[in-house]
Amino acid sequence: RSISLIGAPTDIGAGARGASMGPEAMRVAGIGEALRARGCEVQDRGNLAGPSNPWQPPVDGYRHLAEVVAWNQAVHEAVYTELRDGRLPILLGGDHCLGLGSISAVARHCREAGKKLRILWLDAHADFNTSELTPSGNIHGMPVACLCGFGPKELVEIGGQVPAINPKWIRQIGIRSVDEGEKRFVHEQDLEVFDMRYIDEMGMRHAMELALATLDANTHLHVSFDVDFLDPDIAPGVGTTIPGGPTYREAQLCMEMIADTGRMASLDVMELNPALDVRNKTALLAVDLIESLFGKSTLMRK
Ligand code: ARG
Ligand code: MN
Ligand code: MN
Ligand code: MN
Repeated sequence: RSISLIGAPTDIGAGARGASMGPEAMRVAGIGEALRARGCEVQDRGNLAGPSNPWQPPVDGYRHLAEVVAWNQAVHEAVYTELRDGRLPILLGGDHCLGLGSISAVARHCREAGKKLRILWLDAHADFNTSELTPSGNIHGMPVACLCGFGPKELVEIGGQVPAINPKWIRQIGIRSVDEGEKRFVHEQDLEVFDMRYIDEMGMRHAMELALATLDANTHLHVSFDVDFLDPDIAPGVGTTIPGGPTYREAQLCMEMIADTGRMASLDVMELNPALDVRNKTALLAVDLIESLFGKSTLMRK
């Protein structure tokens, strides 16, 4: 497979500074070498550029809206270009507001290529807030809503079609923190959520079997991996830690089951915050999990 790494060094949508250092921490942890060792051809496209973080309070329910739009436009174009050239883009975030630019590009590619789209959203959070619902104004809590057409015009229109995606295309895994109003909205829009309660009761295997059901040869599978999906005991290097996430083994199984489908065609690795990490261990763990996502397994696969 031909992979392109795209760095998006910003924390423009986050409530803590530091995710802007995520791309370099992933490179230092060896993402490129690890993928090459899997037999992939890897091009590192370097980092995108965008406005710096002015660190201002929210205005009308959004923090840094103009800057978030600029960053997402850059991400959209970069991800779209790689897909058009037949490559598998890996977006190295950066905070999760950039999932909007990335997934809107994937959706545009799928429209043009006549592909079905399925999105796996691996996260502690639903990221389904709007300006009325958000407790923080941080736009990294809103990308899923924006993709579904709920958000400011400048953001929801980035992909050229509104809404960019249908909520039915999403499966959320690992969710354990949803704000009060956001809960109602998740329910209203009928998002398919495998929350931690579900994973506790039914197991990661069953959750993933359902989340990955009905993929076919014509499906483009996009994985949006917010590193705060993982339990903070193993992954402290994120801005919004929520206890009670998937263990190391559960996360490995999740990645291995995605790899087994052979359908993953684009990936976001978001919210890694080296300023809060311990000797880059969260980045090293992310690389370890991404190896599994690209088919590394203990024994030969049948
Ligand atoms: N729900 C909270 C908010 O909207 C936290 C969002 C965290 N999102 C993330 N991508 N880490 O402010
Ligand atoms: Mn394609
Ligand atoms: Mn999150
Ligand atoms: Mn997120």
